[in-house]
Amino acid sequence: MSHSVRISIGIAILIALSVLFLFSLVHTAAGASSRTIAEGHRLAQAWCQSCHAVEPHMAGFFDEAPSFQAIADRHGTTALSLKVFWRTSHQNMPNLVISPEQAEALSAYILSLRGD
Ligand code: HEC
Repeated sequence: MSHSVRISIGIAILIALSVLFLFSLVHTAAGASSRTIAEGHRLAQAWCQSCHAVEPHMAGFFDEAPSFQAIADRHGTTALSLKVFWRTSHQNMPNLVISPEQAEALSAYILSLRGD
């Protein structure tokens, strides 16, 4: 009798620990992605702002370069379409040499502008 009570307490503790563990995983993942977005924002201000309006709700100041908000709101824009864009050459925009991590951060930032 007392043996099985001890076992169920043990199981309850195990369950509680795994819930805590899962919670901390989710929490860490969310923290990483907002860091990625912040990094993309910083890169956009440093590298892209000379041609694109990079801040949310800013209209483009140059006719040729769409604002990041406009790019984000376009239906066809996805993490994949942006990834393809980084890898192809452009007529009017200088070809950028960016690492995969920087590309991911910039995409995350642009996509974070969507829908508000
Ligand atoms: C020298 C000016 C210039 C700079 C700097 C620049 N862009 Fe552009 N960008 C353009 C122009 C012009 C276009 C539109 C014509 C084209 O696609 O070539 C464009 C288009 C784009 C598009 C595609 C829009 C579409 O039509 O799908 C994306 C995404 C983009 N730029 C992202 C960036 C990012 C991110 C940076 C910084 C890392 C950056 N650009 C830096 C001029 C620039």
